[in-house]
Amino acid sequence: MKTIIEPFKIKMVEPLRMSTRNERETFLKNAFYNPFLLTSDQVIIDLLTDSGTSAMSAAQWGGMMQGDESYAGASSWLKMEKVIRALTGHEFIFPTHQGRAAERILYGYLGKPGKVFISNTHFDTTRANIEFTGAEAIDIPSPSDPDSDFPFKGNIDLNKLEELLKQYGKNVAGVIITATNNSGGGQPVSMENMKSASALCRKHSVNLFLDCCRIAENSWFIRLHESGYQNKTCKSIAQEMFGYADGAIMSLKKDGLVNMGGFLTLRNKELADACQNLLIITEGFITYGGLSGRDMEAIAQGLEEVFDHDYLHYRITSTGFLGKGVKALGVPVVWPIGGHAVYVDAAAFYSHIPVHHYPAQALVCELYLAGGIRAVEIGSVMFGKYDDDGNLIPARRELVRLAIPRRVYTQSHIEYVIEVFEELSANRQKTTGLKIIKEPAFLRHFTCHFEKTGAA
Ligand code: F0G
Repeated sequence: MKTIIEPFKIKMVEPLRMSTRNERETFLKNAFYNPFLLTSDQVIIDLLTDSGTSAMSAAQWGGMMQGDESYAGASSWLKMEKVIRALTGHEFIFPTHQGRAAERILYGYLGKPGKVFISNTHFDTTRANIEFTGAEAIDIPSPSDPDSDFPFKGNIDLNKLEELLKQYGKNVAGVIITATNNSGGGQPVSMENMKSASALCRKHSVNLFLDCCRIAENSWFIRLHESGYQNKTCKSIAQEMFGYADGAIMSLKKDGLVNMGGFLTLRNKELADACQNLLIITEGFITYGGLSGRDMEAIAQGLEEVFDHDYLHYRITSTGFLGKGVKALGVPVVWPIGGHAVYVDAAAFYSHIPVHHYPAQALVCELYLAGGIRAVEIGSVMFGKYDDDGNLIPARRELVRLAIPRRVYTQSHIEYVIEVFEELSANRQKTTGLKIIKEPAFLRHFTCHFEKTGAA
């Protein structure tokens, strides 16, 4: 069949509040042109993130009623731990309230001035947790041609990895493979790349960590495009990938299909002991780590459901539907389309807006004004820095991410988004940029304020 249907039916609904363009003009102005500062009822289609926004299944909600809320040794934890152990094969497993808490524990312990972490691309919280320790985070994404159809553009650059491992020697605190590569376009990492990175890390006695928050989506791409995996289950593909890692960090808010949760796994006892101490100080006891029993029930169930092939087929196809739809309008997108989001190249879409007027932030604002769609800037607002004279050092790319919550929107919601892009395409030249008028020291994109420049 040409039509891939959503492999679920809807039992519970949440109304969307419709708004007019005039209302949205006021809402956005009051939010200082930063959609992070809008309230959710001011948004019609929320594509800000796929994190913590999943719809849970009836089985997950049912499980929540059976949450064991004991402080220590809760049965809900034992269930969650069992599922994670079967998936990762790693010996030490710690629950955390979300991904960045696991990052803070592990990278906070390993990082310090003089140390470096190397990754296919550090996500923003990963980078922030590393830089907060005084260590350096180095990105070495695969050098593939952006216009090619190569399916594994999330790969790490293995030649550079080898060079950096030699150059920094004992000062490499860890190598991190993020699968899929969120900041790089939601693109998958191949098994071959993971395997080779692992061999290099072993040769240099460096730990390889897997940031696996979208591991099920990554596994689907491997099954689809990497030879030798067509007859394997996505779960077994993920298991093989974990086999190459010395530890893993997961934000369960993505492929855990839950609204809150995370974990850290390790193989090394010494490292695990150190992390366990930090876990207890800030997250909680080792059998709940910031989660309630009911959260852990939903996680145990969600981590099984996410590997269902009908679900993954629909998930990746529906993201592709949006990506192909906007691309067909001539909107430049990161290609091929990744797993959880479509990334629009705003620097190319608004080529008349200079980077210091943040073309991707301008597109985020236009999407909101035209259709009440909330998206996120992944460009120089998120990753830009300043030189000593206060001039902007721009990010590598000016992207807008349209992240699709799991099991939340139907095809007609997505068709509406495509139609909004049609309108924006027709009015491209009229759009102007923005400037930042207030910003915090870290992760400025969440809370900074903008004002319109008035001229492109
Ligand atoms: N690693 C990656 C690759 C992520 O995408 C995220 C979160 C984290 C770690 C941190 O996890 O939010 O549970 O603390 N990404 C969200 C996003 C916020 O919108 O992409 P967290």
